[in-house]
Amino acid sequence: MTDDPAGATPIDWAELRRRAIEMTDRSYAPYSGVRVGAAAMCADGTIILGCNVENASTGIGICAEVNLCGQMVAAGSSRPVALAVVAGDREPIAPCGRCRQFLFEFGGGDLLIELSRGVVPLRELLPDAFGPDDVAARAG
Ligand code: THU
Repeated sequence: MTDDPAGATPIDWAELRRRAIEMTDRSYAPYSGVRVGAAAMCADGTIILGCNVENASTGIGICAEVNLCGQMVAAGSSRPVALAVVAGDREPIAPCGRCRQFLFEFGGGDLLIELSRGVVPLRELLPDAFGPDDVAARAG
């Protein structure tokens, strides 16, 4: 357990990893064979899950993290503060570029992500990110 520096809720990384591993069983990945599961703890303490969902039209599949963001919005939860993403081998995988951008929208640079080398904030994986504030600042 570690504390979320931005809030009071303790982060149970082992539990998040366990839930992410569980989600790999739900993954729909008949084309790549790469089963991915994701689990995030939100600022309100809710745990939100996601898995990758592929498609016969290969390019339109969605990653576990993007699915998770959709689940989070649908559940009415707000801000992810800690995220574990694992593949079918139960090891952490680094979110792809699109997922980093998608996660930034909701979690911002403070979102903590568990990689195989340890826990890092999203700002380290997506430096100089373009986000909601930039849109607000540039809108005419
Ligand atoms: N995948 C994810 O779910 N998340 C990532 O961050 C990287 C890749 C999925 C997409 C595809 O279904 C499979 O892994 C192989 O690329």
